[in-house]
Amino acid sequence: MCGIVGAVAQRNITPILIEGLKRLEYRGYDSCGVALYVNGALRRSRSTSRVADLETQVKSAELEGFTGIAHTRWATHGAPASHNAHPHFSPSEDNARIALVHNGIIENHDELRRELTELGYQFQSQTDTEVIAHLVDHMYNGDLFETVQQAVKRLHGAYAIAVFCRDEPHRVVAARQGSPLVVGVGNGENFVASDAMALAGTTDQIIYLEEGDVVDLQLARYWIVDAEGRQVNREVKTVHAHTGAAELGPYRHFMQKEIFEQPRAIGDTLEGVTGIMPELFGDGAYQVFKQIDRVLILACGTSYYAGLTAKYWIESVAQVPVNVEIASEYRYRVSVPDPRTLVVTISQSGETADTLAALKHARSLGMHHTLTICNVATSAMVRECSLAYITRAGVEVGVASTKAFTTQLAALFLLTLTLAQVNGRLDDAQEAIYLKQMRHLPVALSAVLALEPQIIAWAEEFARKENALFLGRGIHYPIALEGALKLKEISYIHAEAYPAGELKHGPLALVTEEMPVVTIAPNDALLEKLKSNMQEVRARGGELYVFADVDSRITSSDGVHVIRLPEHYGLLSPILHVAALQLLAYHTALARGTDVDKPRNLAKSVTVE
Ligand code: F6R
Repeated sequence: MCGIVGAVAQRNITPILIEGLKRLEYRGYDSCGVALYVNGALRRSRSTSRVADLETQVKSAELEGFTGIAHTRWATHGAPASHNAHPHFSPSEDNARIALVHNGIIENHDELRRELTELGYQFQSQTDTEVIAHLVDHMYNGDLFETVQQAVKRLHGAYAIAVFCRDEPHRVVAARQGSPLVVGVGNGENFVASDAMALAGTTDQIIYLEEGDVVDLQLARYWIVDAEGRQVNREVKTVHAHTGAAELGPYRHFMQKEIFEQPRAIGDTLEGVTGIMPELFGDGAYQVFKQIDRVLILACGTSYYAGLTAKYWIESVAQVPVNVEIASEYRYRVSVPDPRTLVVTISQSGETADTLAALKHARSLGMHHTLTICNVATSAMVRECSLAYITRAGVEVGVASTKAFTTQLAALFLLTLTLAQVNGRLDDAQEAIYLKQMRHLPVALSAVLALEPQIIAWAEEFARKENALFLGRGIHYPIALEGALKLKEISYIHAEAYPAGELKHGPLALVTEEMPVVTIAPNDALLEKLKSNMQEVRARGGELYVFADVDSRITSSDGVHVIRLPEHYGLLSPILHVAALQLLAYHTALARGTDVDKPRNLAKSVTVE
């Protein structure tokens, strides 16, 4: 992953680079660094702490300059140590001519490292990035733009790079292949960054570079060539990027704030939905929905669980067969393509490398009807798909996805109803009932969020555990998976989810008095079956923490703790139950004192394979 920002200007750019890094921290926060041209030399500052620490360092070192690059890292090659932090210098720290930052993975780095070592380069890091810095230095011919165009031809893998050279102080050259990169066009100054948000407040004139592009940024001009070296004009778009620098308000963390923003986010996502209209998914959606006879959903992580939930909805309401695939698996497995498939990608960021690659793979197999459910209107995913529904969750800062998930579910339910209508499976009366339920969602969700004090009491007990099981049945099984993912990613408690009926086929062996078993128990057709599964747990001493609906007749007793959700919400119940699980994970993490918004080893946007 990693985030890149670079600038060529006639003013001190350090504050722009630092601000850009703060907004790019969602891409990784293992280390960060900045390099600037200062009085005929390259100088840098790096930190294995957060950007705020780097900011203090550059201020006390009075590091200022007109040309420079900066980076926030999600470690792939080499530990999150200071010597692996970008920018990387070449040929050496004391005699630095080239400074370079990189996002992506260079697959042939071993071979290049051997070659450059034989040429006398001494490596200071374990990164694949330092290989590129030395390669550019080795190939440097006095013209950085030309050199980078030649150097990237030697790279196999994914990269977005930004590089500058001591000998050409008013120039930054950048290139992309497989990792995102934008150019920001200013007035007599130019910028490059991993996304437009990094440059918000500096410029809103944005160019989205395409695969293989190399860009030459100078003070009053920029120049782009494609992979063949032909000069190309790329459209400059006015992008009003959110800064993401949202205020916390009364909340302790962005995750908590985002959990509580869900009623608003769902309301915004469904705003303007006065009836079922295929055009809400884009021009020509009706014709596409009419032509397809199956759905293939591609996504990762939490977005994948949204897809699993949608499978239950679409198959039961619209009667259209649905296959849900983990993007990183789908792209590498042999599958049986069907051109009459609607390929749906689900992504908060719209930049997830595996999902983008899976989409391309599906297209390469002849499936050209593509739709994305995405939270970022300017993202690669939206640009790549012919149809789109933009969720209006707003910027999600917390690494653990919350409001993005529930707004995805709201959009997927709308897709369900639309496919049902197009297939003649939805009569007016049923449509009116579903629409009313959807409109009422913000109110119903607020009532669930009001359960926070009861959930805090549970979280205090949970915080002492090292393992947990989550059970759900039917449409709530994906919600159990999501609840377990939330708990593990922010509290570091090992958690696993099972469809409750599977318990006796193996996982029951894990159940002891030490094992808390979180059970999602809505008052639906599977409730009686679920109650039997709960008995199986109790009989082995397992302690049950049950999220039941108001009318589900499950009572607290020895070893059975019950929190009641205010109402049973039929098919939309997963959206309510997941909010309770988000709060459980959040408060457990809080009690354990973890870094809730930036959990260890993770990043918000996963732009590497
Ligand atoms: C977990 C989480 C991740 C993301 C996954 C896909 O809380 O946020 O599992 O859901 O990395 O990201 P997007 O939705 O941006 O494609």
